[in-house]
Amino acid sequence: MKTWLPLTIAIIVGSTRPGRNGAAVASWVHRQAAARTAASYEIVDLDEVNLPLLDERIPALLGSYEHQHTKDWSMTVDRADAFVFVTPEYNYGFNAVLKNAIDFLHQEWQHKPVGFVSYGGVAAGTRAVQAIKPIANVLKMTPVPEAVVIPLEGFNLGATVTHPRGASAATKAPAVILLAAANVNDRDGVMSGVPTLGQLAGALADAGFLAIRYDKRGYGQSGGRSESATLIDQAEDVRAVVRWLSNRKDVDPRRIAVVGHGEGAMVGLAAAAREGKIAAVVSIASPSTPGTEQFLEQQRLAVEASNLPAPEREKRLAMQKQVQQAVLTGKGWEGIPANVRRAADTPWFQSVLAYDPAKVLKDVRQPLLIVHGEVDREAPVDHAEKLAALARQGKSKSVDLVIVRGVNHLLTPAVTGNTSEYGTLTDRSVSKDILMTVTGWLTKTLPASAR
Ligand SMILES: Cc1cc2nc3c(=O)[nH]c(=O)nc-3n(C[C@H](O)[C@H](O)[C@H](O)COP(=O)(O)O)c2cc1C
Repeated sequence: MKTWLPLTIAIIVGSTRPGRNGAAVASWVHRQAAARTAASYEIVDLDEVNLPLLDERIPALLGSYEHQHTKDWSMTVDRADAFVFVTPEYNYGFNAVLKNAIDFLHQEWQHKPVGFVSYGGVAAGTRAVQAIKPIANVLKMTPVPEAVVIPLEGFNLGATVTHPRGASAATKAPAVILLAAANVNDRDGVMSGVPTLGQLAGALADAGFLAIRYDKRGYGQSGGRSESATLIDQAEDVRAVVRWLSNRKDVDPRRIAVVGHGEGAMVGLAAAAREGKIAAVVSIASPSTPGTEQFLEQQRLAVEASNLPAPEREKRLAMQKQVQQAVLTGKGWEGIPANVRRAADTPWFQSVLAYDPAKVLKDVRQPLLIVHGEVDREAPVDHAEKLAALARQGKSKSVDLVIVRGVNHLLTPAVTGNTSEYGTLTDRSVSKDILMTVTGWLTKTLPASAR
């Protein structure tokens, strides 16, 4: 007769601070895990383990321990087959007590899977997990992030799926694809410390949606090349994600929406114009003018906010116009510095300059919500009215517009909304009004009865 021994998974509680939240998080993890009977779970609380600062003379790699506390710690880690690190985020990393405990040992960690549960302020501890992973790798642990990989032609997109809260396995949930603003390339959409898409994903999951966000082409865990990816390529990536979602058992293929921020909204609209399987679109803080006008406006706002003398301002605006023309026509690069040309002369920039929302919106048939922060100074709020007017001339039968008071381009509460205010913001959370507007509209627009 075979004896079957379940795996032992150690839930390692990293924080030891008096009044810590870590203990409550770990006991929640333990409760969730204990519902599964395929393994046994043990909470290993570093507060109880109570190691001193590393005091072994010989590096752990050699496995020769001098102190009893190290030998005890070695036995605890050795008997586990896998780990869950429950880690807080301290100053964009994980905490020192956990690092110290890791450093005490070596082979005891090796060749074992490790998962992470992180918590913290605005970023939910995701940066702490990013900081642990290389250390787990060097100790030959096998991190098991939720690795979602979406195949495109020739490469994959690295994505994160946030599951709807409380959904049963049998339910087919509505799904939302989240798209980040220009030059914001990571899946969390972090802008000035605000994880815009990470927070939208959390709110959407709480409202019953499956949310997916991914690193843009050529960034993070996504393959492909960023500099040659046009807006249309990015729209095609969205369509690939739509196809991937449609094949999932837990997604209702008739209730897939896109939510884009800034340039992400331009991509979302371009995807919706081409893809009938997209059921609804939310455009947040997106411009209403063709790319050429947008960039001139941004340049004008930047020089107005600067202390530059008037002739220098004029010179910069003239150069912006010349660069744009040269990018679009391939001619007229004379006198433009080589570094400016290198940065500007890309298929991406050409496609953004050539983007005209009026043309795209003509073909958007889906219900559309336009949301804009009232004190957005990067894409000023009058764009929202104009975008709504353009959309109403198009094929969509339902265009809603919501202007959210006291919100900037980062989607956080703000007073002036100027970019100079970003560094001083104490609240780096996406405005609750934005989150409620988006989730409320999607819930109303994609009701369960649509199945
Ligand atoms: C020293 C310190 C630094 C922190 N730095 C961050 C940070 O960089 N990002 C963040 O989101 N939260 C940060 N926080 C907030 C913590 O993640 C949050 O308070 C969490 O509850 C800490 O875990 P603990 O209560 O188990 O110690 C910090 C907290 C402390 C004590």
